[in-house]
Amino acid sequence: MKHYPYQIGTMAEYQTAYAESLNYPDQFWSGIAENFVWHRKWDKVLDWNFKEPAIRWFEGAQLNITENCLDRHAATAPDRLALVWEPNHPQEAVRRYTYAELLQAVNQCARVLLAMGVQKGDRVCIYMGMVPELAIATLACARIGAIHSVIFGGFSAQSIADRVEDAQASFVITCDRAYRGNKSIPLKAVVDEALLKTESVKKVLVYQRTGEACAMDASRDLWWHEAMERVSTDFLPATVMDAEDMLFILYTSGSTGKPKGVVHTCAGYMVWTNYTFVNVFQYRPGQVHFCTADIGWITGHSYILYGPLSAGATSLLFEGIPTYPDAGRFWDICDKHSVNILYTAPTAIRSLMSFGDGPFEGKSLNSLEVLGSVGEPINEEAWHWYQDKAGKGTLPVVDTWWQTETGGILISNLAGVTPAKPSFATLPLPGIEPVLVDEQGNRLEGPNVSGNLCIAKPWPGMLRTTYGDHERCRTNYFSAYKDLYFTGDGCLRDENGFYRITGRVDDVLNVSGHRIGTAEVENAINLHHEVVESAVVGYPHDIKGQGIFAYVIASSDIKTDDVLRQHILNAVTKTIGAIAKPDKILFVKGLPKTRSGKIMRRILRKIAEGEYAAIGDTTTLLDPAVVEEIIQSAKVL
Ligand code: WTA
Repeated sequence: MKHYPYQIGTMAEYQTAYAESLNYPDQFWSGIAENFVWHRKWDKVLDWNFKEPAIRWFEGAQLNITENCLDRHAATAPDRLALVWEPNHPQEAVRRYTYAELLQAVNQCARVLLAMGVQKGDRVCIYMGMVPELAIATLACARIGAIHSVIFGGFSAQSIADRVEDAQASFVITCDRAYRGNKSIPLKAVVDEALLKTESVKKVLVYQRTGEACAMDASRDLWWHEAMERVSTDFLPATVMDAEDMLFILYTSGSTGKPKGVVHTCAGYMVWTNYTFVNVFQYRPGQVHFCTADIGWITGHSYILYGPLSAGATSLLFEGIPTYPDAGRFWDICDKHSVNILYTAPTAIRSLMSFGDGPFEGKSLNSLEVLGSVGEPINEEAWHWYQDKAGKGTLPVVDTWWQTETGGILISNLAGVTPAKPSFATLPLPGIEPVLVDEQGNRLEGPNVSGNLCIAKPWPGMLRTTYGDHERCRTNYFSAYKDLYFTGDGCLRDENGFYRITGRVDDVLNVSGHRIGTAEVENAINLHHEVVESAVVGYPHDIKGQGIFAYVIASSDIKTDDVLRQHILNAVTKTIGAIAKPDKILFVKGLPKTRSGKIMRRILRKIAEGEYAAIGDTTTLLDPAVVEEIIQSAKVL
């Protein structure tokens, strides 16, 4: 086996590493894994089958991911900044943690968790704004082997209750409130409402962010600042974990109504987030990395926390939104903190595009070296705008394709090392063998083919199960096509072997980079007592990528007006969260169904897109007349 560096520096090195990773995976990954701190090395690199599935990486190894993210850097570069926090309000003070300070804070928080009774293997739900304490709490769980389940701060009380219940979580960590733009959001009150719906939580730890009045239940709730004062500030040795022990659960939407708890484990996830961070962004020691995602999503887990910190980078945590106090905020932050790597989402890029050049006035952006995109397909116009404006026409842009389930990036160019092609994620990372299949599961070989994207072999960062329901994991990802992991995405491969992700092929929407299941939204709408039935589809949206279009049948005796429309929006906000609110609601008398009662979503998608002429054959429908009726009302919506 040839020698190649951990960080790929040339196209030739990429080709060597890629070939080695597929031909000799054990040697390849054990070479990569040598770059981490272990309590015990592995007996076996990989053991797997996709049938059950059973995927085990670095079996026999023992480690703690926080020693790799904190202790080793605190020992060699204690004064290097680990976290820089930029508050929502630009006039508020920046907070900075060196590696030594972050290690200390994580240990202290871990002691608080221990004092609360949290044990290894317990599930801890974290529902917080983007404050340093969110990072600290998450890492503190990992320090003591508790399984964190971070819930994005935009989800509703019902969504929290469902996740708490599914994970049987005994502890919640939250904030009194969160600042977002000019809003202050009462997170603790939402948690209180959620906990009325489940019995599983014993203790709630509350970080005080805004200091506004906040109800506390003395028998259950503790203030973070008080609890931190009560524990020792001494070093806390990390709990030694087995390679395949669970590190975290992260809930994500699928094609059924109920979100799944994607499970990642300690060793493989650590190796994958580090390797992909260092290679895709071409990280050099000392660089400042600004990932604009929320830690409530996988992008924040992997590329605010575990990837950058395990690499010893300075990770910037931003509490606010790109347009507050104005649309130049990202650029202000890049200058203020000398950001080197900016990683954001196409939806943010498209929204900033609409503000023109004004927000760039007076900004230097001289520190920027690499630009990244994630979360949804990036259209060519947005790609070029991003490179032209933020990258002054020259910086490399990496279009990184991956999923909650994949743990880290699977397909992407490597910044400045492998070629870019606008709107293409381009080439697979070492270890990743993409396969395109048609509906019947036939493999589509060669250039210029489109199909459903699958991955043929396991990689260290892939999901291991869905929490509490392994069968669900199997049927969702491993049963559609034999011996393949199915991503749910459509994809084309061009004449150079570059991959272009074309979007979901299942009933999952991608709205502003957030994954939302159509069935989840339908369930929420159907909860309204005046709704008989509904069907939800996506349609192209200039800024959000996809918008949500809901067809609703209301009970016949009721007037379908704006009041009901507002009630439906409220119901969705209450059941899922504001991120899932339909952009358009069309009241209809019937839905296009086959004789067996299946809703023909293809037709509904075409109508939502305004492509009335492309609807095609409707003769197999139970009642073809319904289509014409829907079109007429859609035209006047
Ligand atoms: C989509 C986010 C095109 C895709 C990391 C995937 C993308 C889903 C890209 C996962 C990209 C993510 N180009 N599409 N670069 N990145 N997607 O789980 O449809 O929130 O299946 O993970 O986002 O969303 P998730």
